Amino acid sequence: MSWKYLLSDVDLGDEEANAVADVVRGKWLSMGPRTSKFELEFAEAMQVKHAVALSNCTTALHLALIASGVGVGDEVLVPSYTFVASANAILYTGATPVFVDIVGPRDLNLCCDDLESKITSRTKAIIAVHLAGFPADMDRLMKIASKHGLKVVEDACHAIGSSYSPYSSSEHAGKKAGTIGDVGCFSFFANKNLATGEGGMLVTNSDSIASQARLLRSHGMTKSSWDKASGRATDYDVTCLGYNYRCTEITAAIGSIQLQKLSNNNARRLELVEAYRRKLGSVEGLILPFATRLEDSAHHIFPIILDQSADQSVVRKNLAEKGIQTSVHYPPVHLFSHYRKLYPSVHLAQTESAAQKEITLPLHPLLKIEDVENITDAVIEIVSNANLRSEKN
Ligand SMILES: Cc1ncc(COP(=O)(O)O)c(C=O)c1O
Repeated sequence: MSWKYLLSDVDLGDEEANAVADVVRGKWLSMGPRTSKFELEFAEAMQVKHAVALSNCTTALHLALIASGVGVGDEVLVPSYTFVASANAILYTGATPVFVDIVGPRDLNLCCDDLESKITSRTKAIIAVHLAGFPADMDRLMKIASKHGLKVVEDACHAIGSSYSPYSSSEHAGKKAGTIGDVGCFSFFANKNLATGEGGMLVTNSDSIASQARLLRSHGMTKSSWDKASGRATDYDVTCLGYNYRCTEITAAIGSIQLQKLSNNNARRLELVEAYRRKLGSVEGLILPFATRLEDSAHHIFPIILDQSADQSVVRKNLAEKGIQTSVHYPPVHLFSHYRKLYPSVHLAQTESAAQKEITLPLHPLLKIEDVENITDAVIEIVSNANLRSEKN
């Protein structure tokens, strides 16, 4: 299938190509000076004390949970309306994911009422996912966490550069998503707002979480290969069981350039979302999640929720025939076979209902307003065509 409108695309060019070529010519490929530089730049951009570069966000989530003291027998609250990695990281620790419902089709983030009702004596932490780039209700969530003595891990994969409730009187107003809880995790996967192919970052204001993450990312070794190559160390100790979750210098070099482009590209995404909303905001039966919010998001994706009578797969097929690539964010994690086998009785009404009707439309900084006009014309035509209603009707 050759798409006329890609779901996502990346703003990569000569700068990134030259940065990669420099790394290759320099011949130091794994964690080294470029990784340290990228960490400092990322920490400054996110206004946070520590940034620890990792191989991806899944490993960041894993280390975030370990550093939060999560282990066998514990429970971690997590939305099911997320990418499977958010829950997988919990299973890696031997803990149990306890799935939390979302607020509803207008707010796809976790529901704090449902979350609080699921806290038990075994609950150790909460993973908050900022869906589409819109931060979850961190004011309420942080209060609940502090009342029950829980750690908060932010899965900020969609929210690189999102600012929390910037014009509110919240004590967290203006803070970057990922820096409000105990620890935040970011992905630089190939389709993210900041893309390096694979890559991730753990951020925290806690010295002890940061030093634990640094140790655990490289087999618990007290010194790195770069320390030895640059003459700062000759030997090392291994002080705990760690992993190989290291970042490469190629990732870091691309990451530094991508970080410089982030705020312009996020601003471009916002303009495109405004264009989508102008056209789709008044279409009968169509819900635009988070429609009352705009400035607090990095706009990673643009989700729409179809009318109850519309068939998601038929609408997607018709959009595909017009060259428009779409996706579903997300098939609920608790309904995947692996999780169904582990937790067969989980039922989340709002999550299941939104997932059946959600379609993600193309959104990326290389998209033109004119493209959005064409995509929205196609959406309006398709969703208003009675013939495309569910075959059951
Ligand atoms: C919400 C969310 N969490 C976690 C991840 C995992 O990130 P990574 O692919 O970098 O491991 C992703 C990546 O797509 C994501 O979107």
